[in-house]
Amino acid sequence: MTQKKILVTGAMGQIGSELTEELRRRYGSENVVATDIRKPDGKLAESGPCDVLDVTDRAAVFTLIKKHEINTIYHMAAILSATGEKNPALCWNVNMNGSINIMDAAVELDLGTIIIPSSIAAFGPETPRFDTPQETILKPKTMYGVTKVCGELLGDYYVKNLGADIRGLRYPGIISSETLPGGGTTDYAVDIFYKAVEDGKYTCFVREDTMLPMMYMPDCIKATIDLAEADKENLLHCCEYNLSALSFTAANLTEEIKKHIPDFKVSYQPDFRQAIADTWPASIDDSAARQEWGWAPDWDLESTVKDMLEKLRARS
Ligand code: NAD
Ligand code: SER
Repeated sequence: MTQKKILVTGAMGQIGSELTEELRRRYGSENVVATDIRKPDGKLAESGPCDVLDVTDRAAVFTLIKKHEINTIYHMAAILSATGEKNPALCWNVNMNGSINIMDAAVELDLGTIIIPSSIAAFGPETPRFDTPQETILKPKTMYGVTKVCGELLGDYYVKNLGADIRGLRYPGIISSETLPGGGTTDYAVDIFYKAVEDGKYTCFVREDTMLPMMYMPDCIKATIDLAEADKENLLHCCEYNLSALSFTAANLTEEIKKHIPDFKVSYQPDFRQAIADTWPASIDDSAARQEWGWAPDWDLESTVKDMLEKLRARS
């Protein structure tokens, strides 16, 4: 079997940072190159090869892939929903041109599996809100969501017409303890833990009845690598797998944290991100992922909250 030589883009981000560590554990540190537009530092820089890479710089993408003899890519570089609404042109440029550069490299340099994440942001207000089906209406209202739908369609095109092996998941909001989220609408579901431990109070930027699909980082990493490792023959979809683990309101999350920190106080002051959250589903039907590559989550809300608080308290 060919040795995997893996490139992670956006490796300094919330998902990329933990994904890189797990890939290095599995495939050998020297075989996983962590890159980001920001200079990689800390644990990421100490544990294996790193480089600065702007994914919108096509020549730099091709040069780096050749230099490290990369054959597998986890493309995590992106501009997320909230930052994307503040700077739609940047969001389009990074998410679309960055992804096109990666997809073109996959074809022109004859690479193996490429993971390009999509998001629940691909959906919109016309999409069924509960148990959102795999095949459904995709009319997002954010620039971020537009780039995610375009990325899915483009990925399908590259797979069907150009022979690339591109795979993608519609991640829900990701909860994690190691790297702070990078400018999304679901960031409150991470921020709340830090504030609970540090201050005992939190001002939440969505209403208490806001219900969104979420997932704990260990499940996100498992899903991502499992999809990359799945037998291609079994994949009837490719770039747009629905993925589900948890669905809760901001109030449900507060109540679960209060079981551990009874005096925790949360107030709700919705800002512009409420309007984004209101266009996204509350829960997701991920039966295609379950059937085609054996996806099943390990973490529920209770175990996620307990583990998050233990990890953050140990560091405080
Ligand atoms: P993040 O914002 O935490 O990290 C993205 C990284 O990309 C950052 O480190 C940033 O410096 C880097 N970056 C920005 N512009 C770049 C460029 N031009 N070239 C190279 N790097 C650049 O994002 P994340 O949460 O880790 O998301 C990873 C992927 O998962 C993205 O595709 C995102 O849309 C998707 N996703 C994330 C979530 C979530 O809740 N975290 C949910 C759904 C989908
Ligand atoms: N967590 C992401 C965001 O809020 C969803 O894709 O932007």
